Order: sequence, then structure tokens, then C-alpha cells
Amino acid sequence: MILVMAVSLVAVPAVSAAEKIVYGDADGDGEVTAVDVTVVMRHTVHMLTLTGDRLKAATVSGDDELSIVDATWIQRKVVNIIDKFPVEESEPEDTGRDTLVVYFSRTGNTKPLAQYAAEYLDADIFEIEAAVPYTDADIAYYTNCRADSEQSDPAARPEIAGKVDNMDSYSTVVIAYPIWHGQAPKIIYTFLESYDMSGKTIIPFCTSASSPIGSSATNLHALAPDAVWKDGRRFAAGTSSDVIEAWLNEIGF
Ligand SMILES: Cc1cc2nc3c(=O)[nH]c(=O)nc-3n(C[C@H](O)[C@H](O)[C@H](O)COP(=O)(O)O)c2cc1C
Repeated sequence: MILVMAVSLVAVPAVSAAEKIVYGDADGDGEVTAVDVTVVMRHTVHMLTLTGDRLKAATVSGDDELSIVDATWIQRKVVNIIDKFPVEESEPEDTGRDTLVVYFSRTGNTKPLAQYAAEYLDADIFEIEAAVPYTDADIAYYTNCRADSEQSDPAARPEIAGKVDNMDSYSTVVIAYPIWHGQAPKIIYTFLESYDMSGKTIIPFCTSASSPIGSSATNLHALAPDAVWKDGRRFAAGTSSDVIEAWLNEIGF
């Protein structure tokens, strides 16, 4: 009772939208304590009303409704029965990195080069995988295979399995792909159209049997017109990490 009385005097400060939410911190003091349990209980009996970021911070059970259940979760955190709230389990992990390397690599040539770039840039990495995987027959080019018909169809946008959850957190995106009929595979088009890339710096590179990067990268610009596009570069399969690093260094990374 004494605790409840004391808490009634606790101010619940507003938190700016940009501030990171500390789940469980219902009173906004930056810590998760027994006071937060009480604040949530008082909200549930209409003795105070949590709104905005305070409401979000208090709603920890993952069901979007603030109730006694949330108070129970916060209590568990306070006594160290749990490390994370359910709401945090379902949130994409923010790695704190601001560079993402994205690659598509059907036959494995582009993949190690993308990994070299990610290691050098200390970047997160995301593999573009087709929702309907490309079989060997699908990529047997010049046989009217699936890849042939997609590359000649301006409207083709093969579906991607999975997505980048926290694209907003990246300011730089490296996009690595194989040349398919002189161009980027259409699944790269799908990728670029799936996100708001405005303001991000995009660095394209490709692998190929012999073709140069040519118009494959510049033709991507229209799909993310408000991004800052760096000149792309073509590499042969088996290019060493030293060469990838030297190039990234040369262009200012
Ligand atoms: C459908 C298809 C079309 C291709 N078209 C070209 C091409 O126009 N020029 C070229 O030099 N290589 C072409 N290649 C070869 C690939 O670009 C090359 O093997 C690339 O390194 C494959 O990368 P990956 O193993 O990461 O998928 C093509 C390959 C496929 C499957």
C-alpha cells in the first residue's frame, strides 16, 4: 500500500519518438523496477493512464493490450526470472550496423565475394532467395528456360522468400548479383522495389562469365531513384578478398 501511495506521486515523463523504447520501463526513468509493476497495475484500474511511448514500453506481453498480464511479465523481469519480454522476442534484432550486403547467387560464385565485402565493411548480410527456387533446368540459359523468359520479360518480378526486417536502420546497401543475359536477374528488381531505398547509398557489383557490368547496374537506378548510386564493378568468379577490399577502399569505404 505504501508503495502504491508513493507511486501515485511518480511523474510519468513523455519520451521523444526517437528515443529507444526500454520495455518494462512504464514510468520512464530508464530502469525496470517494482515501481513499473505498480504503474502498470494502476493503469489497469484507471488510476493513471499510460499513453504513447510509456504505453508501448509497458505493453510487454506481445498482445498489444496493456493488462495485468504485462505487470506480471515486468515482475518476472524485476526478479530475474526472464531476460527478455515476449514483445522483444518477436522484434527484429537491431545489430547496430548501418551497412547491409545483399546478394543473390544461384551457382555460388557471387556469394563468397559478398561475404568478403560484408566482413570488410563489418556489415550485416542478407541472401536473396527465390520463393520458388531456381532449379538447374531453370537456369540452363538459351533453352527458353525460366531465367531466359524472366530476363526478356520487363514485368517479371520473381517472388523473394523472406525479407530484411530492419531496412530502415541501414544507410549503405551493397547489392551483389550474377549477370544474367547482360543484366541483373529480375529478382534483384523485386528486391529493390520491395523497400524504400531513398537516401541510402547503394553499391552494386556483379560476377559474370565474361560480360562487363555494362548497363546492368545503371538499369537498376530507376527502381530506387532516390538512392545515391555508386558506380558498380564486375568481378570474375574466384576473385580474392584482397581485390574486393581494395575496390571498396578505392570508392571510399
Ligand atoms: C541465366 C543465366 C544467364 C547468364 N548470362 C550471362 C551473360 O550474359 N554474360 C556472362 O558473362 N555470364 C552470364 N552468365 C554466367 C553468370 O553470370 C556467372 O556464372 C555468374 O558468376 C554466376 O553467379 P552465381 O554463381 O553467384 O549465381 C549467365 C548465367 C545464367 C544462369
